[in-house]
Amino acid sequence: MRFVEPNRHEVTEKTVPINRLKTPLRVLHLSDFHASPSVSLESIEKAIDRSLELRPDIAFITGDFITHELSEETEYQRILEKLASRAPTFACIGNHDGGKWAATAGGYRSFEKVNALLDRSGIRLLFNEAAQVKVHDQTITIVGLGDLWSDDTQPSGVLQRKRTNDETIFVLSHNPDSKSLLKPYDWDLLCCGHTHGGQLVVPFLGYRPFLPVRDKSFPEGLLDWGDRYIHVTRGIGNLHGLRFNCRPEISVLNVV
Ligand SMILES: [Fe+2]
Repeated sequence: MRFVEPNRHEVTEKTVPINRLKTPLRVLHLSDFHASPSVSLESIEKAIDRSLELRPDIAFITGDFITHELSEETEYQRILEKLASRAPTFACIGNHDGGKWAATAGGYRSFEKVNALLDRSGIRLLFNEAAQVKVHDQTITIVGLGDLWSDDTQPSGVLQRKRTNDETIFVLSHNPDSKSLLKPYDWDLLCCGHTHGGQLVVPFLGYRPFLPVRDKSFPEGLLDWGDRYIHVTRGIGNLHGLRFNCRPEISVLNVV
């Protein structure tokens, strides 16, 4: 639980048939690095090195870069740069990265420090913001939202009820419970983390005693949500150094 499973990254590949892209996209979805005394930068680097072998076209990181505070910033930057220098990398903020919720849990009052680290590493943090990027001769839109537990999820300024062009829209939002706020808007794939898959899963029963979400019916995986998709990855790191029957996950989404 403490020494083996947290470092045994599992690569998963899923096909997301949104049927809108001209050329398929290989999306790397990582989340919840949780750099801390429980999760070493070495294990995060191992996950990034393995991810790069999978040759993604683009990478999304859905928050919780740290658990409480940043340390070894230069080393963390070097590791994050490895990813951003190989694939355009976009991120959203997690509840642990700083903000109203983090301040109540021994973390930073704002996500300024994490934002600065990402900026120096070449990762674009989107906070209730949209970005457009050209991959394989097609332009896609990526929307990153603020964190739900810090009351910072504000989709109204960046998403529309009906899109005005035919670009594919990816949404990055740390907490999958934010889907209820996103329901009225027009998008194709929502990428989330936060659950860690529960971290501990009781064998055979599948019971997950630690699942910090309201909707406990969807702890991980790809969900066909009407005419769009939601993907929740188990993430790379953990809280308290433990994982059981719930390996850290490197997710590749083949979006077609
Ligand atoms: Fe997390």
